[in-house]
Amino acid sequence: MEDAFVPSQQRQFSDADLDQITGSTFVKRVEFHQAIDSTNNRALEIARTAKHESPVLVLAGSQTHGRGRGSNSWWAQSGALTFSLLIKTDQAQLPPPLWPQVSLTTGLAVCEAIAELLSEPAIHLKWPNDVYVRQRKTCGILIESPPGHKGLLVIGIGINVNNSMRHAPAELRSSAIALCDANDKDLSLVEVLVRVLGRLNSRLADIGHRDADLRSSWRSRCLLTGRNVQFDSPTRSIIGLCRGIDDDGALVIETADKIERCYAGTITKF
Ligand code: BTN
Repeated sequence: MEDAFVPSQQRQFSDADLDQITGSTFVKRVEFHQAIDSTNNRALEIARTAKHESPVLVLAGSQTHGRGRGSNSWWAQSGALTFSLLIKTDQAQLPPPLWPQVSLTTGLAVCEAIAELLSEPAIHLKWPNDVYVRQRKTCGILIESPPGHKGLLVIGIGINVNNSMRHAPAELRSSAIALCDANDKDLSLVEVLVRVLGRLNSRLADIGHRDADLRSSWRSRCLLTGRNVQFDSPTRSIIGLCRGIDDDGALVIETADKIERCYAGTITKF
């Protein structure tokens, strides 16, 4: 896949930025695309090649067909940060039984990176892995395992950074926020990316080793605890009071007659 040539200084990420990423994070190779359909699609394509480093970072200036969880699409204007990490899970000491924790842990790592960058107390994790700032969504995460390639995971992350919602339609302004809106000025995209990668590296290493700390950190950032929520999956719909996140990552919902534990699905109302 060949991108049209754009001089380094005119791109969202210069050559120096790309060197900073490989020089100061756990990323072994970075592939930058000025525009691409979806960084997750490209990471899945790399996963099909016989030899590749780990982690590989696929980074995009913009995406034409960004994908979200389920059948959602992910639309982000210029100024957003969109990237995917392809990781070899044996190298990262993440055997398949630990994979269910990767989703919440990735969301937690993004929360913590944002907390380091902004003096902003209201940074929450909306189960399973959306990141909310001031009760509005700022980051979406899509984790996929490449079919037929055991031992690989693609972690796709989209963060609203400098794509301000100030001039967006009212509906979007009430549900989404960019970091620059909370910070009152733009942030350096490479600085945000390096922070997120740093937190992600250390939090993924905690899985299976510092689980008590991970669990209490998910719980303390949980946006839904104490709220009335609706959970939907292809097989069931549950309405009740959210009692928090269980040790195994399930969302716990108290209905009129019992306690339900929810795994794969989405919170559609809260
Ligand atoms: C969601 O909130 O539903 C998840 C959105 C995930 C979007 C990111 S942007 C980078 C990566 N590439 C994609 O096509 N999707 C993820």
